[in-house]
Amino acid sequence: MRLVLLGPPGAGKGTQAQVLSKDLSIPHVSTGDMLREALRQTSPLGLEAKGYMEKGKLVPDTLVIALVKERLLKEDAAKGFILDGFPRTPEQARVLDHTLEELKIPLDLVLYFETSLPVITRRLSGRRICGKCGKNFHLVNFKPKVDGVCDACGSALVQRPDDREETIGKRLKVYNEETTPLIDYYGKKGNLVRVSGDLEVRPLNTQLMELFKKKGLLRGALANS
Ligand code: AP5
Repeated sequence: MRLVLLGPPGAGKGTQAQVLSKDLSIPHVSTGDMLREALRQTSPLGLEAKGYMEKGKLVPDTLVIALVKERLLKEDAAKGFILDGFPRTPEQARVLDHTLEELKIPLDLVLYFETSLPVITRRLSGRRICGKCGKNFHLVNFKPKVDGVCDACGSALVQRPDDREETIGKRLKVYNEETTPLIDYYGKKGNLVRVSGDLEVRPLNTQLMELFKKKGLLRGALANS
């Protein structure tokens, strides 16, 4: 199954993608995670992306597109993938379409996570991530077993620099200006499905699995697992 998760910052795309990736045995491809990992490794890409990310701006299309193209050519993506945070501009969407056409692997669905502003704000301001392995937590919704400590690797939890109050507004503005045109773009193509990002993780996951079943997408996907 080939999915795109579209929606504002804090909609829960990354969290739901992790669950779906396990359920469907297909990789979760998050450009945000890949860029943060590049930053942790202080690679040239990470250093170039840093300034854009911390200011809540988009990293230039050329850099992100190259990253995704390389990732989709890896063997594990042959049986499907969940794109989270990509595409994010009309140019990225056009290049993705073109690449998938060339590979003869069209997208199955674009899931648009419609999410209300109070939910977005609560999720972003309460999010904490592990400074070492990047695992995601929330001060209220997904608390670590020990306050401030990562369950997975025991390192300290930190706030993402772009989750600070002053940057959240900037990210939402960038999302509204640069990414919302994709709702119309995929709506016209006929593969967009609106879901509620306000739902808790499990009820939304149940809805999505029912949707996949109804669309006949589960047969191939479960054969992968
Ligand atoms: P990225 O990491 O993609 O950030 P984002 O799109 O702003 O998305 P978020 O990670 O903030 O939110 P999410 O929807 O994944 O929510 P999550 O599941 O984590 O990008 C970061 C930056 O990288 C960009 O600003 C840009 O600079 C750059 N970048 C990335 N991709 C790019 C691209 N294609 N082009 C150019 N630049 C790019 O959840 C948030 C919190 O809520 C968590 O704490 C979680 O535990 C909690 N939570 C999640 N779901 C639920 C739920 N259902 N119920 C209760 N709590 C929940």
